[in-house]
Amino acid sequence: MRDNLIICELSSGRRDAFSQVVDLIYGQWQDMEFCSDREKVSVRIQGRMIAGRLPFCYVASSTDDPSVILGTASISLHELPDLNQRVYWLSEVCVAARHRGRGIGRELISACIAKARELGVRELSLYTARQRDLYRSMGWTHDADIVVDGETCALMSIALT
Ligand SMILES: CC(C)(COP(=O)(O)OP(=O)(O)OC[C@H]1O[C@@H](n2cnc3c(N)ncnc32)[C@H](O)[C@@H]1OP(=O)(O)O)[C@@H](O)C(=O)NCCC(=O)NCCS
Repeated sequence: MRDNLIICELSSGRRDAFSQVVDLIYGQWQDMEFCSDREKVSVRIQGRMIAGRLPFCYVASSTDDPSVILGTASISLHELPDLNQRVYWLSEVCVAARHRGRGIGRELISACIAKARELGVRELSLYTARQRDLYRSMGWTHDADIVVDGETCALMSIALT
Protein backbone atom coordinates (compact mmCIF):
# COMPACT_ATOMS: atom_id res chain seq x y z
CA MET A 1 0.00 0.00 0.00
CA ARG A 2 2.75 2.42 0.98
CA ASP A 3 3.94 3.00 -2.62
CA ASN A 4 0.40 3.80 -3.75
CA LEU A 5 -0.44 6.04 -0.83
CA ILE A 6 -1.13 9.76 -1.31
CA ILE A 7 -1.16 11.83 1.88
CA CYS A 8 -1.98 15.52 1.65
CA GLU A 9 -3.68 18.37 3.37
CA LEU A 10 -7.45 18.41 2.91
CA SER A 11 -7.31 22.18 2.42
CA SER A 12 -4.77 22.07 -0.40
CA GLY A 13 -5.97 19.98 -3.25
CA ARG A 14 -8.58 17.73 -1.65
CA ARG A 15 -11.44 20.09 -0.78
CA ASP A 16 -13.63 17.72 -2.82
CA ALA A 17 -13.12 15.14 -0.05
CA PHE A 18 -14.58 17.26 2.75
CA SER A 19 -17.85 15.32 3.07
CA GLN A 20 -16.05 11.95 2.95
CA VAL A 21 -13.89 13.09 5.87
CA VAL A 22 -16.97 14.19 7.81
CA ASP A 23 -18.64 10.83 7.12
CA LEU A 24 -15.55 8.89 8.23
CA ILE A 25 -15.23 10.77 11.51
CA TYR A 26 -18.97 10.81 12.22
CA GLY A 27 -19.21 7.09 11.46
CA GLN A 28 -16.41 6.31 13.91
CA TRP A 29 -17.29 8.62 16.82
CA GLN A 30 -21.00 9.47 16.60
CA ASP A 31 -21.48 8.11 20.13
CA MET A 32 -19.12 10.76 21.49
CA GLU A 33 -20.42 14.21 22.38
CA PHE A 34 -17.93 16.05 20.14
CA CYS A 35 -19.15 14.15 17.05
CA SER A 36 -22.78 13.56 17.91
CA ASP A 37 -24.09 15.01 14.65
CA ARG A 38 -22.67 15.66 11.18
CA GLU A 39 -22.95 19.43 11.57
CA LYS A 40 -20.69 19.39 14.65
CA VAL A 41 -18.11 17.37 12.74
CA SER A 42 -18.36 19.71 9.73
CA VAL A 43 -17.74 22.74 11.91
CA ARG A 44 -14.68 21.08 13.44
CA ILE A 45 -13.20 20.23 10.05
CA GLN A 46 -14.16 23.61 8.55
CA GLY A 47 -11.89 25.21 11.13
CA ARG A 48 -8.94 23.31 9.66
CA MET A 49 -9.27 24.51 6.07
CA ILE A 50 -6.68 27.28 5.77
CA ALA A 51 -3.89 25.76 3.72
CA GLY A 52 -0.46 25.61 5.31
CA ARG A 53 -1.68 26.83 8.71
CA LEU A 54 -2.54 25.33 12.07
CA PRO A 55 -4.94 23.66 12.74
CA PHE A 56 -5.03 21.28 9.77
CA CYS A 57 -6.50 18.05 8.49
CA TYR A 58 -4.68 15.42 6.44
CA VAL A 59 -6.24 12.77 4.24
CA ALA A 60 -4.98 9.54 2.71
CA SER A 61 -5.99 8.09 -0.63
CA SER A 62 -4.51 5.64 -3.12
CA THR A 63 -3.20 6.25 -6.63
CA ASP A 64 -5.45 3.33 -7.64
CA ASP A 65 -8.55 5.47 -7.01
CA PRO A 66 -7.70 8.88 -5.56
CA SER A 67 -11.38 9.80 -5.28
CA VAL A 68 -11.81 7.46 -2.29
CA ILE A 69 -10.58 8.74 1.07
CA LEU A 70 -8.99 5.89 3.05
CA GLY A 71 -8.19 7.76 6.24
CA THR A 72 -7.73 11.06 7.98
CA ALA A 73 -5.87 12.68 10.88
CA SER A 74 -5.76 16.23 12.20
CA ILE A 75 -3.83 18.62 14.35
CA SER A 76 -6.36 20.59 16.39
CA LEU A 77 -6.16 23.25 19.10
CA HIS A 78 -7.22 23.18 22.77
CA GLU A 79 -9.04 19.86 22.45
CA LEU A 80 -9.93 19.54 26.15
CA PRO A 81 -11.02 22.66 28.13
CA ASP A 82 -9.79 21.10 31.39
CA LEU A 83 -6.30 20.86 29.88
CA ASN A 84 -6.26 24.23 28.17
CA GLN A 85 -2.52 24.66 28.70
CA ARG A 86 -2.02 21.89 26.13
CA VAL A 87 -2.44 23.78 22.87
CA TYR A 88 -1.77 21.34 20.01
CA TRP A 89 -3.46 17.95 19.71
CA LEU A 90 -3.33 15.01 17.33
CA SER A 91 -7.01 14.23 16.83
CA GLU A 92 -9.50 12.23 14.79
CA VAL A 93 -7.02 9.66 13.49
CA CYS A 94 -9.23 7.29 11.56
CA VAL A 95 -8.76 4.77 8.77
CA ALA A 96 -11.77 3.27 6.98
CA ALA A 97 -12.45 -0.15 8.52
CA ARG A 98 -11.64 -2.24 5.46
CA HIS A 99 -8.31 -0.47 4.90
CA ARG A 100 -6.91 -0.92 8.41
CA GLY A 101 -3.75 -2.84 9.18
CA ARG A 102 -1.88 -1.70 6.04
CA GLY A 103 0.20 1.11 7.50
CA ILE A 104 -2.09 4.00 6.56
CA GLY A 105 -2.68 5.09 10.16
CA ARG A 106 1.03 5.24 10.93
CA GLU A 107 1.69 7.24 7.74
CA LEU A 108 -1.05 9.75 8.58
CA ILE A 109 0.26 10.20 12.12
CA SER A 110 3.83 10.67 10.86
CA ALA A 111 2.68 13.20 8.25
CA CYS A 112 0.79 15.24 10.87
CA ILE A 113 3.79 15.22 13.21
CA ALA A 114 6.16 16.29 10.41
CA LYS A 115 3.90 19.15 9.34
CA ALA A 116 3.32 20.32 12.92
CA ARG A 117 7.08 20.34 13.50
CA GLU A 118 7.58 22.33 10.28
CA LEU A 119 5.02 24.87 11.53
CA GLY A 120 6.92 25.33 14.79
CA VAL A 121 4.89 23.15 17.16
CA ARG A 122 7.08 21.91 20.02
CA GLU A 123 4.73 19.48 21.74
CA LEU A 124 1.64 17.51 20.77
CA SER A 125 -0.93 15.85 22.99
CA LEU A 126 -3.61 13.25 22.32
CA TYR A 127 -6.06 11.10 24.19
CA THR A 128 -6.98 7.59 23.24
CA ALA A 129 -9.18 4.90 24.72
CA ARG A 130 -7.75 1.89 22.91
CA GLN A 131 -4.67 2.75 20.85
CA ARG A 132 -2.08 3.60 23.49
CA ASP A 133 0.26 0.81 22.31
CA LEU A 134 0.25 2.19 18.77
CA TYR A 135 1.22 5.65 20.00
CA ARG A 136 3.77 4.33 22.49
CA SER A 137 5.43 2.44 19.64
CA MET A 138 5.72 5.76 17.80
CA GLY A 139 7.47 7.51 20.70
CA TRP A 140 4.53 9.04 22.59
CA THR A 141 4.65 9.16 26.39
CA HIS A 142 1.72 8.18 28.62
CA ASP A 143 1.18 11.16 30.95
CA ALA A 144 -1.99 10.18 32.83
CA ASP A 145 -5.33 8.44 32.61
CA ILE A 146 -8.26 10.82 32.14
CA VAL A 147 -12.00 10.38 31.65
CA VAL A 148 -13.48 11.78 28.45
CA ASP A 149 -17.21 11.40 27.77
CA GLY A 150 -17.39 8.76 30.52
CA GLU A 151 -14.57 6.68 29.00
CA THR A 152 -11.13 6.19 30.54
CA CYS A 153 -8.46 7.33 28.09
CA ALA A 154 -4.69 7.62 28.07
CA LEU A 155 -3.47 11.22 27.90
CA MET A 156 -0.24 11.13 25.89
CA SER A 157 2.31 13.59 24.54
CA ILE A 158 5.33 13.82 22.29
CA ALA A 159 8.03 16.48 22.13
CA LEU A 160 8.86 17.66 18.61
CA THR A 161 12.50 18.70 18.63
C1 LIG B 1 -6.07 3.21 14.96
C2 LIG B 1 -6.13 3.24 13.46
C3 LIG B 1 -6.16 4.68 12.99
C4 LIG B 1 -4.87 2.57 12.92
O1 LIG B 1 -4.87 2.71 11.50
P1 LIG B 1 -4.30 1.52 10.59
O2 LIG B 1 -4.11 2.04 9.22
O3 LIG B 1 -5.11 0.32 10.78
O4 LIG B 1 -2.90 1.35 11.33
P2 LIG B 1 -1.57 0.73 10.78
O5 LIG B 1 -1.84 -0.30 9.72
O6 LIG B 1 -0.65 1.85 10.45
O7 LIG B 1 -1.09 -0.04 12.06
C5 LIG B 1 -0.79 0.64 13.24
C6 LIG B 1 -1.35 -0.07 14.43
O8 LIG B 1 -2.76 0.04 14.43
C7 LIG B 1 -3.32 -1.11 15.07
N1 LIG B 1 -4.21 -1.76 14.10
C8 LIG B 1 -3.88 -2.32 12.93
N2 LIG B 1 -4.95 -2.83 12.34
C9 LIG B 1 -5.98 -2.59 13.12
C10 LIG B 1 -7.37 -2.87 13.05
N3 LIG B 1 -7.89 -3.56 12.02
N4 LIG B 1 -8.16 -2.44 14.05
C11 LIG B 1 -7.64 -1.76 15.09
N5 LIG B 1 -6.32 -1.48 15.22
C12 LIG B 1 -5.51 -1.89 14.26
C13 LIG B 1 -2.19 -1.99 15.46
O9 LIG B 1 -1.85 -1.69 16.80
C14 LIG B 1 -1.07 -1.55 14.54
O10 LIG B 1 0.16 -1.76 15.13
P3 LIG B 1 1.28 -2.67 14.39
O11 LIG B 1 1.64 -1.91 13.15
O12 LIG B 1 2.37 -2.72 15.39
O13 LIG B 1 0.62 -3.99 14.11
C15 LIG B 1 -7.36 2.48 12.89
O14 LIG B 1 -7.36 1.17 13.40
C16 LIG B 1 -8.67 3.15 13.20
O15 LIG B 1 -9.12 4.01 12.45
N6 LIG B 1 -9.30 2.77 14.33
C17 LIG B 1 -10.56 3.36 14.75
C18 LIG B 1 -10.38 4.79 15.20
C19 LIG B 1 -9.33 4.92 16.28
O16 LIG B 1 -9.29 4.17 17.24
N7 LIG B 1 -8.49 5.95 16.13
C20 LIG B 1 -7.45 6.28 17.06
C21 LIG B 1 -8.05 7.16 18.08
S1 LIG B 1 -6.84 7.87 19.10
